[in-house]
Amino acid sequence: MTATHDTARRDFASDNYAGVHPEVMDLLAEANGGHQVAYGDDEWTARLQDVLRRQFGSAALGYPVFNGTGANVLSLQSMLPRWGAVVCADSAHINTDENGAPERVGGLKLLTTPSPDGKLTPELVARQAWGWGDTHRAQPGVVSITQATELGTVYTPQEIRDLADQAHSLGMRLHLDGSRLANAAASLGVPLRALTTDVGVDVLSLGGTKNGLMMGEAVVVLDPEAVTGIDYLRKLDMQLASKMRFVSAQLVALFDGDLWQRSASHANAMAARLSEGARAVAGVRITQPTQSNAVFAVLPPGAADRLREYRRFYDWNPATGEVRWMCAFDTTPQDVDDFLDALRAAVA
Ligand SMILES: Cc1ncc(COP(=O)(O)O)c(C=O)c1O
Repeated sequence: MTATHDTARRDFASDNYAGVHPEVMDLLAEANGGHQVAYGDDEWTARLQDVLRRQFGSAALGYPVFNGTGANVLSLQSMLPRWGAVVCADSAHINTDENGAPERVGGLKLLTTPSPDGKLTPELVARQAWGWGDTHRAQPGVVSITQATELGTVYTPQEIRDLADQAHSLGMRLHLDGSRLANAAASLGVPLRALTTDVGVDVLSLGGTKNGLMMGEAVVVLDPEAVTGIDYLRKLDMQLASKMRFVSAQLVALFDGDLWQRSASHANAMAARLSEGARAVAGVRITQPTQSNAVFAVLPPGAADRLREYRRFYDWNPATGEVRWMCAFDTTPQDVDDFLDALRAAVA
């Protein structure tokens, strides 16, 4: 059979350009065969709950879903009443890249605040966390943060704890979009629960796809009192997989052992190598600290388009010429070094 695509080519556009980690493929094959009860009453989903309890503590309960947008909408919808609002950074994926799904599908109001590095602070939250009892204002009920952020930066455990304490003292809840939680935890060298359960996160969107799954994420409820009707909402939001064993098996592959850690550490290390190499190229400016698997840079005019002829990547801010380069579990040191050669040529 002729090849449909070049299986040796790896780009720097997104960690979800990457394929499936072989260990995930192996477990998917193991999950195949025979019949299992549909809609989540299967043995793989039961095993996933054990894995999640081990990673996130005994109260953790997972709701496997198809994608990250679905995980976020389901999380937020289950945490808020119809009149509720979510405080988030203006760069948050829920605000910029989910086509209004939190508003249109979730029926929620997003109250955004600018953040230069993608992170919220209690001061930034305070700009929007007000107006309870005012019938004219959507009622702030959840603070949502992203870890690692959309700008590749990473919150420390203490920074998350401060946000959780603030939210709870205001009667609000803390949601964490953990699409790249593994990259953040690997970057800090801490377990997943050190950035979630142990620091007051109530509900987590746990990422998998960006770290080597074919598809699959999970809403992980860390405080059962933080959600209402999540079972029904998952179906209503069209995120209830009938053959759930295959989503669950992928998440088991990632989180049962240390695959999440190995893959994320590797992607982070490749981004660090790229960042360091690019920083040394005259005319290239790195705009954010490289703390996870993303590198942000401003290139001289025209250089990005020349470099894109070699490998794909996205413009981040066309107005300033800022681009985003992303590494994945399968990016090799040679990929990075070859890309740096192409960068030098594009800039020269
Ligand atoms: C921070 C963050 N959250 C959520 C998502 C949503 O994931 P999906 O594209 O699977 O809906 C993404 C995807 O890019 C993301 O980067």
